[in-house]
Amino acid sequence: MSDTLGIALVGCGTVGTGVARVLLAHAERIAQRAGRPLALRRIVVQNLNKPRDAIIPRELLSTDIAAAIHDPAVQVVVELIGGTGIAKTVVLEALTAGKHVVTANKALLADCGGEIFEAARQAERTVCFEAAVAGGVPIIRALGESLAANQVTAIQAILNGTSNFILTAMAERNLSYTAALAEAQQLGYAEADPTLDVDGSDAAHKLAILAQISFGVAAKPHEIARQGIETIDPMDIRFAHELGYTIKLLAEAWTSTRTPNGERGMRGGGLDTTLSNSGLHPAAPHRPTAEKAVALHVAPVLLRHTDLLAQVRGAYNAVLVYGDIVGETLYQGPGAGQMPTASSVVADLIDLAVGRAQRTFAAAKLWSREGRGFTVEPPERVRSRFYLRLLVADKPGVLADITRILADEQISISSLVQHEAAEDNGGPVPLVIVTHYAATGRFRRAIERINALRTVAAPAVFFSMGD
Ligand SMILES: NC(=O)c1ccc[n+]([C@@H]2O[C@H](COP(=O)([O-])OP(=O)(O)OC[C@H]3O[C@@H](n4cnc5c(N)ncnc54)[C@H](OP(=O)(O)O)[C@@H]3O)[C@@H](O)[C@H]2O)c1
Repeated sequence: MSDTLGIALVGCGTVGTGVARVLLAHAERIAQRAGRPLALRRIVVQNLNKPRDAIIPRELLSTDIAAAIHDPAVQVVVELIGGTGIAKTVVLEALTAGKHVVTANKALLADCGGEIFEAARQAERTVCFEAAVAGGVPIIRALGESLAANQVTAIQAILNGTSNFILTAMAERNLSYTAALAEAQQLGYAEADPTLDVDGSDAAHKLAILAQISFGVAAKPHEIARQGIETIDPMDIRFAHELGYTIKLLAEAWTSTRTPNGERGMRGGGLDTTLSNSGLHPAAPHRPTAEKAVALHVAPVLLRHTDLLAQVRGAYNAVLVYGDIVGETLYQGPGAGQMPTASSVVADLIDLAVGRAQRTFAAAKLWSREGRGFTVEPPERVRSRFYLRLLVADKPGVLADITRILADEQISISSLVQHEAAEDNGGPVPLVIVTHYAATGRFRRAIERINALRTVAAPAVFFSMGD
């Protein structure tokens, strides 16, 4: 075998160390699969004095990014620094220097994908990013290659392992949010500052990338409606359980694809039970109203216990994809961590060595002006059912005030449960209302008015229903 593919690792922390380990420990296997050897030529870090894994060859280490990028023996630059600062410069400079790029950086692609992919096209080079969404789960390849004959009509995904770990611990072991978060930090699932994980930002970055691949829309992460898990109280997990539901932080994309008879797909609405067999997604719980629109959001959603995603436990990720030809497919696995993420990075390197990545990249036209004609639905127009939990004074007339406000906004109630107060001390009691489908904008308007009622003791807590 000849024609070695030279690699520079820029960043050698958690993921970079994993990539180096795979390349060095499994060099023979990788060379066989790639049809030629992959050689680690340079490793760039910030601090040369930091202790490193014993497998890292000291002689390859430096702090000189430019030397790594411009080394003629390097054909691929692997950016594993993270963030949108220096990482962006590394990627753009590498492309300009005629190098292919592999990155695991979801924040960079979600924020600057347009610029980066345009630079790649100009330079006739390829950007691979399998590890940027759902770590070790091969979802980018599934969407870009295996499902290439399909128009994706919906995606429902658990894309943040930290949040899923916390919600699982709350549901299965009755932990409070704070105790579950502390445990996630202890086990290394959550950062010291877990904000981006628990407020939905991390999942929004990944959803922006999936939406770009599937629908050709360039939604910036901050344009994606987002709600985190911080407000979820064990009480909500319990009430949801009583109703037959599990709460999951979902990243979702729903299109307004029509069924063959011209009706919108509607899960649970019984419109057309043959839909799932016909390949069209059976449902759009969060239904956009416009033609060829896609509704994107990250939020806690109540899923029926029997739903596939409801059963994804702990720090795992899962992505459910509805394609108009294949129907429903599910991808599940470790969404982060050193070796799962390295597995995806090295798969990208093998694809580059074989030459596959270059061909699919050129055909996919990612982040190009040639979109697929989808627009992003404004969040307030998206229709959903809602779970609403209120703490209300235990007095006559309170319920009537609340139902009148909902009726004013044309929101009808599917079920209503008034729970007993924990202690009969005249304090507020929880009231749980599940609505029929309602436009998010109308629902939020109703919530504002309900929160202003003097008999409502705390701001309303509400989540979308997955059916
Ligand atoms: N960790 C995961 O499980 C995971 C999963 C999926 C995707 N990702 C993505 O993978 C990327 C890397 O994550 P990570 O967890 O491996 O990060 P990390 O452990 O913090 O490693 C970052 C690396 O970048 C180096 N670095 C930082 N600033 C630099 C600079 N100015 N010049 C040169 N090197 C610099 C650091 O050098 P020193 O070693 O000297 O500090 C370190 O080696 C991120 O985009 C992340 O979102 C991570």
